[in-house]
Amino acid sequence: MNESIEQTLSIIKPDAVERNLTEEIKSIFKKNNLIVKDEKKIHITRDEAAEFYKVHQAKPFYNDLCAYLSSGPILVMILEGENAVLLNRKIMGATNPKEAEKNTIRNLYGISIDKNSVHGSDSTENAKKEINFFFKS
Ligand code: CMP
Repeated sequence: MNESIEQTLSIIKPDAVERNLTEEIKSIFKKNNLIVKDEKKIHITRDEAAEFYKVHQAKPFYNDLCAYLSSGPILVMILEGENAVLLNRKIMGATNPKEAEKNTIRNLYGISIDKNSVHGSDSTENAKKEINFFFKS
């Protein structure tokens, strides 16, 4: 793999799957040269969500976050491309849709800081862990 070609984990969250936004969101990735290398639609348990979001366990929003991610089907994807981790975060926009730059995914589709439509790994190290979590077990 070329040095700057990375993989990152993307999740289309329950609010966006429920509104049938997966194809629209995937077309944004494609337009930005992020290729979907693998994908699966799953409905995870609350315990799995708690394990996935373990880094946030001390945060006041942790319980709600885990309940939310396990509340309905999600689409998990491995995205690949040049500087994929940072690029995906730029395309997603700020965590809070109210603060997300115009035409980012969260600006276009996010409902609230909880229902913010997508998750993306925040570093190459976490991308490896998160990809392993969903795809290598
Ligand atoms: P995500 O990128 O999936 O990572 C953790 C999630 O916690 C985040 O998106 C938000 O949806 C959710 N969250 C809820 N409240 C907050 C908050 N106050 N600050 C950051 N993230 C929050």
